[in-house]
Amino acid sequence: MTSTALETVPATLRDPMLPRAAVIDAIKQETHDVGTFTLRLDEEPEPYAFRPGQFNMLYLPGFGEAAISISSDAEERDTIKHSIRFVGTVTMGLSRLRAGTEIGIRGPYGTAWPIEQARGRDLVLVGGGIGLAPLRPVIHHVLRHRDDFRKVTLLYGARSPGDLLYAESFEAWKQAGIDVHVTVDRSEDSWKGVVGVVPLLFYRIRIEPKETVIFTCGPEVMMHFVAYEALARRVPKESVWLSLERNMKCAIGVCGHCQYGPLFVCRDGPVISFARMEPYFNREEY
Ligand SMILES: Cc1cc2nc3c(=O)[nH]c(=O)nc-3n(C[C@H](O)[C@H](O)[C@H](O)COP(=O)(O)OP(=O)(O)OC[C@H]3O[C@@H](n4cnc5c(N)ncnc54)[C@H](O)[C@@H]3O)c2cc1C
Ligand code: FES
Repeated sequence: MTSTALETVPATLRDPMLPRAAVIDAIKQETHDVGTFTLRLDEEPEPYAFRPGQFNMLYLPGFGEAAISISSDAEERDTIKHSIRFVGTVTMGLSRLRAGTEIGIRGPYGTAWPIEQARGRDLVLVGGGIGLAPLRPVIHHVLRHRDDFRKVTLLYGARSPGDLLYAESFEAWKQAGIDVHVTVDRSEDSWKGVVGVVPLLFYRIRIEPKETVIFTCGPEVMMHFVAYEALARRVPKESVWLSLERNMKCAIGVCGHCQYGPLFVCRDGPVISFARMEPYFNREEY
């Protein structure tokens, strides 16, 4: 894709559906089916800014667009990282690209994790599989501002040890004052850690309900049980935040593709409190 006339149009006048050109700086293979793409928006007049929890629409000409969370440090402004699981049309197309290729990008879109609510309190991050990607900007924020929070805990799990995302960072996160608990659904001989589903990790930590804020992202069934475990420990519904996933088309609240009950996930989410979405959560018709 060429950027041609795009960079001559002031950002404020651009069609919100028009992608901007981004160059792939690097691709890091994280697991057998996940790669982290580092993108650079060379043509941008202003540095790109996002808030942890937001996503971009990545556009691959001839294939289409996919919603992908931003997984990099919001305070590192010159590049944007996306960890992508190669599952379908667009993401498989992206998996075949090499560094130096240009793709399209629109965003950032959607709501952010309410980091302010967690400041001065305990923060529990709960991720499943690729769901750790939208939580990583929160971890970056915590690492930069560790004293702003009391206890910070990460509960994370994946199908197998080989599916664990960012596994090489776990030790550094521990050293920096994050209590990291990891589990896998299926063990391998070399695995010495916990085996079981992510919500079971709640039995390994102590929670002060009034002082705890929970951010979770992963398969919907996992988030359902995370909310259940949180509520069973009397954490208020207003302190439990989920990141939802629905099929996206416009990503700007126009087409209705991402409707979830009365909510549009691209506009009212993806990050939303359990208090707000409980009536619609995990119901067949939504
Ligand atoms: C707000 C938001 C943030 C997201 N963040 C990320 C992210 O950071 N990284 C990431 O990899 N994905 C993320 N996704 C999911 C991603 O948008 C979808 O997986 C998307 O469908 C991929 O587009 P595609 O064209 O490759 O697959 P499609 O062609 O749309 O799907 C092809 C096939 O794959 C199946 N499929 C789609 N997604 C999955 C899945 N997750 N697991 C198993 N099967 C699947 C579909 O059911 C379909 O049969 C996010 C989605 C949303 C809404
Ligand atoms: S994707 Fe169009 S309204 Fe959300």
